[in-house]
Amino acid sequence: MLKSHSRKTLLSAAGASVTCLALLLLLAQRQRSATEGARREREVGLRSLQSLGEAGTEDGIQSEQAGGKRGFSAYFSKLTRNRREAEKPGGAAGATSSPPPAENISADDIFIAVKTTKKFHKSRLELLLDTWISRNVQQTYIFTDGEDEELKKKMGSHVINTNCSAAHSRQALSCKMAVEYDKFIESGNKWFCHVDDDNYVNMKTLVQLLSQYPHTQDMYIGKPSLDRPIEATERLGDNKMRPVNFWFATGGAGFCVSRGLALKMSPWASGGHFMNTAEKIRLPDDCTIGYIIESVLGVPLTRSNLFHSHLENLQQVSRSEVHKQITLSYGMFENKRNIINMKGAFSVEEDPSRFKSVHCLLNPDTPWCPPQVAY
Ligand SMILES: *[C@@H]1O[C@H](CO)[C@@H](O)[C@H](O)[C@H]1NC(C)=O
Ligand SMILES: *[C@@H]1O[C@H](CO)[C@@H](O)[C@H](O)[C@H]1NC(C)=O
Repeated sequence: MLKSHSRKTLLSAAGASVTCLALLLLLAQRQRSATEGARREREVGLRSLQSLGEAGTEDGIQSEQAGGKRGFSAYFSKLTRNRREAEKPGGAAGATSSPPPAENISADDIFIAVKTTKKFHKSRLELLLDTWISRNVQQTYIFTDGEDEELKKKMGSHVINTNCSAAHSRQALSCKMAVEYDKFIESGNKWFCHVDDDNYVNMKTLVQLLSQYPHTQDMYIGKPSLDRPIEATERLGDNKMRPVNFWFATGGAGFCVSRGLALKMSPWASGGHFMNTAEKIRLPDDCTIGYIIESVLGVPLTRSNLFHSHLENLQQVSRSEVHKQITLSYGMFENKRNIINMKGAFSVEEDPSRFKSVHCLLNPDTPWCPPQVAY
């Protein structure tokens, strides 16, 4: 039923990291192309996504051909608007002026979990190892699903084979998040930050942001991917269901949780509990984190517009503010590169993700960076 080309557009835009948002968009697409009769039990309230089409013509959302694209374009322009809102003074966390630290932390206090899969060790992870991870080996842990002796040589015990399935299923993703959580608790570090294997992490700005909050306080920081809370259904057992609304930080942009809060999440997140919780709401890993924190524990998401995923228009990252961002990403959208717009040490052909150029901007003393590049 689904026109194959629009499906392709969606799938390529979503990339391999099936975050909560990507899944929702896929569901929305499927739902749109379904017939009127298909109003059976819906696991996810998709109103927030469907409303994205409301800005367009009425038939926009019905049109199978344009549906996916329009949804995405509308979504991007919405993000742009949100971003402008967030950039207003007094806006989100991590704004330009940095208040005095609430706690003097260093990079050593942060546990960074990078989620990957064996298939991407060469094509994605290597770039991260050559760039930001090379300067932060002590803080970074790679969560994957297959053995890799080469990777082990570089990262030692910081490569964790989760033994989770390599499939991009909801269960496989939650399985990895569960291992990330347990390893963080074990580490004793003050902050847990999760990123994907297509994220660049600027450790300096991350430390600055997290220093603004005591790690013993309940903190959940990231970028919401929707402009309103997600509407989901919680399974209560006895075939009873309950609608729940909550915000979540999109996993593909990276997010952080303080130790104080992570400890409180334990009954729903530690050991096998995370998988059970994810099953209860049938949503992917990043949504499940949002559910536990906002819906169960009642702790609100603190927004930061300095985290970036490949599901947003990365051209919007201002050229002069690249160094202020906490995470960056790259991807493809409608067969075009979705990358940040920056001149740098390397051309787009040499450095399609722009991560090498970013790395040389932030760390000009890196041996492989060309000397004295005029930006
Ligand atoms: C952080 O360190 C600075 C400089 O050492 C000090 O002045 C400040 O009081 C410290 N802040 C906290 C919250 O410990
Ligand atoms: C994965 O399996 C191996 C071999 O059985 C084991 O040594 C390792 O601890 C497992 N990893 C996790 C995260 O449980």
